[in-house]
Amino acid sequence: MSHIFGFARQVYRFAGPVLWLNSVALLLVGLLQSVGLLLILPLIAITGLVEFDTGSMPYVGWLFQWFEDVPRTQSLTLILAIYVLITVCQSLFNRHQTILNKKIQQGFVRKLREDTYKGLLRANWDFFIRHRKSDIVKIMTTEIAQVKNGLSAYFQFASSLIFAAVKIVLAFLLSPWLTAGILTAGLVLLVCSRYFTRRSEEFGEQNLQLSRVYVAGITDHLNGIKDIKSNTLEQAHADWMGDVCRQAEDNAVAFTRLKTNSQMLYSVVSSVLLAGAVYLLVHLFQSQPAQLLLVVLLFSRLWPVVVRMQSRLENLSNMIPSFEALVELQNECERSRELQIESFSNVRPIRLNEAIELNGVWFRYDLRKEAYALRNVDIVIPAQGMTAIVGPSGAGKTTMVDVLMGLNRPERGVVRLDGKPLTDDNLLSLRRSVSYVSQEPFLFSASIRDNLLLMEPDASDDKLWNALELACAADVVRRLPQGLDTEIGDKGVRLSGGEKQRLVLARALLREPSVLILDEATSALDTETERRVQETLERLRERIAVIVIAHRLSTIRKADQVIVVDQGAIVQRGRYAELANDRRSLFGRLLGQQELVAQG
Ligand SMILES: Nc1ncnc2c1ncn2[C@@H]1O[C@H](COP(=O)(O)OP(=O)(O)OP(=O)(O)O)[C@@H](O)[C@H]1O
Ligand SMILES: [Mg+2]
Repeated sequence: MSHIFGFARQVYRFAGPVLWLNSVALLLVGLLQSVGLLLILPLIAITGLVEFDTGSMPYVGWLFQWFEDVPRTQSLTLILAIYVLITVCQSLFNRHQTILNKKIQQGFVRKLREDTYKGLLRANWDFFIRHRKSDIVKIMTTEIAQVKNGLSAYFQFASSLIFAAVKIVLAFLLSPWLTAGILTAGLVLLVCSRYFTRRSEEFGEQNLQLSRVYVAGITDHLNGIKDIKSNTLEQAHADWMGDVCRQAEDNAVAFTRLKTNSQMLYSVVSSVLLAGAVYLLVHLFQSQPAQLLLVVLLFSRLWPVVVRMQSRLENLSNMIPSFEALVELQNECERSRELQIESFSNVRPIRLNEAIELNGVWFRYDLRKEAYALRNVDIVIPAQGMTAIVGPSGAGKTTMVDVLMGLNRPERGVVRLDGKPLTDDNLLSLRRSVSYVSQEPFLFSASIRDNLLLMEPDASDDKLWNALELACAADVVRRLPQGLDTEIGDKGVRLSGGEKQRLVLARALLREPSVLILDEATSALDTETERRVQETLERLRERIAVIVIAHRLSTIRKADQVIVVDQGAIVQRGRYAELANDRRSLFGRLLGQQELVAQG
C-alpha cells in the first residue's frame, strides 16, 4: 500500500493542483449522479405505485413537498426536465474530467520517458557495461506502458473512491444506522483485501522478471540467429521459449484467479449484507418503505463501485513493480551521471596542440576483482602523427582508447590534454574533437545520407562524397540503387563487413577531428582497398593525431610510434623498424608469426 502512496505522490508532484481540479470535477459528477438517483422517488410517487410517508424522510422530504405543490401533470414534465438537465451537466463534467485525466496521464508518461532517456544519455560508460541493453529497452517500452495502464487504474480508483464517498454520505443522511452497519462490514472486507493487493504485487514482480528473461532471450537469439541456424541450435532455443511462455501463462492465469476470487468474495458478501440489512429493517425496525428503497438502491449501486475499486487496486499493485523498476533505472542513471550539463548542443571542440597523454593509468572493470585491464600505462600521443597500438587479443587495447576518450575513468593516474587533466569540464569537448571507429562497425537503420549527417548535420553533398572517397566508400555508394539515399540495415540493403567498415570510416572522417581512433577499423578490407585507406591516413596524420589499433601488422608499417601492449601493460614502444629488429620481443614474435603465415 505504501508503494501506491509513493506512486500517487509522484503523480501529484507532476500534475500539481490540476489533480485537485480533477477531483472536484469528479465530485460534481458523483453528486449529480446521486441527485439523479434521488429523483426516482418523486417519479415513483407520481405513478402512485407506492405510497410514501414523505414527512418522515430526513433531508429529502423537502423534495417531495416541493413536487406536491406542483400540479401532477406538470410535475412529471418538471422531473423529466430536471433529469435531462442533470444528465447533460453530468456528461459535460464527465467529458471535461476524462480529457483532463488523459492530459495528466499522457503528460506524466511523457515526462517519465523523457527523464529516463535523458538520464540514460548522461550516464557514464560503466553504467552501460553493467546493464543488459534488453533490460533497458524493456523498461523504456513495456514497463512504461504498464505504468500508463496503472495510471488509468489509479484514476479509475480515485473516481470510484469519490463516487463511493458521495453515495455513502447520502446513505448516511438517509439512514445512519443501516449505513454504519454496512460500512463496518465493508471495513472488515477492506482489511481482508490487503491479502489480495499484496499477492497482486507479487504477481507483478514475477511477471516483470519473466518478461525480462523473455525480452533478453529473444534479443540475444535474434542477434545470434546465424550461429543458431548454422549450428542447428534451434531445438534448445525452442525448448527455452516453451518454458518461459508456460511460466508467463501460469502467472497470468494465477493473477486472474486471484482477481476473480476477490471479486466473487466481494459480490457474495455484498449480497448477503444487503439481504441481511433489508431483513432487519423490515422485521425489526418496521422502517419506512421509501427510506428502505433509497438505501437499498444506493447500496446496490455502491457495491459494484467497491468491487471495481478493489479490482483497480489490484491492477495498481500489479503495476507497482514496473514503476519501481523505472524509478530504480532513473536513480541508477543519476548515480552514474558523468555529465552535469543539461544540453549537448553547446559543446565546442577543442584544438589539440601538443599531445594527449595517459600518466600512470590503472583501470579495472570490476572493483571487486583483482584483475586490472590496464596496469600503470604511460603513453604520449602527439597532436600530429600516427600511433599504432598492437598486442594479443584481450591485451587491453580497446580499454586503453576508451580511457583516452574519457569513457573509462582511471582508478589511478590521469589523462592529460595538452598538459591539462581531463575533467568533467573538458570531457565533452574532447569527445567532440574525437572521431572513433569501433571494432564492431555500427550504422543506424536509416539512409546512408542520414548516417553521415549524424556526424555533421550541415555537411553538403560534396563534403559527403569527399569523405566517402577518402574512406574508399564512394564506389560502394555509387553501386547502391538509390545512392546516398539508400536505406541500410533493417529496412534496406545489407552491406558486407568491409563495406560497412568503409562507410563508418567515412562518417568518422566527415567531422575533421583532432584525434582519429581506428579500432581494428580496416580488418575486413582487401589488401588493395586497405592500401588506399592507408594513403588517406598518411595524409591525415600530418594534421591530426591518428591512433590505429591493428592485428595485421603490415598496416602499421608507416606508424610514427608503435606501442605494444600485453596483459594490460606496455611492454615495448618505438618505431616499427626498431621493434621489428628484436626478434625475441613480443612484437618480433608477433611479426615473425604473421610473416610465416604470409609465406604459407
Ligand atoms: N565490459 C567488460 N567487462 C569486463 N571485462 C572486460 C570488458 N571489456 C573488456 N574486458 C576485459 O578487459 C581486458 C582487455 O579487453 P580489451 O577489449 O581492451 O582487449 P583488446 O586488446 O581490445 O582485445 P581485442 O584485440 O580482442 O579487441 C580483457 O581481459 C577483457 O576480458
Ligand atoms: Mg579490442
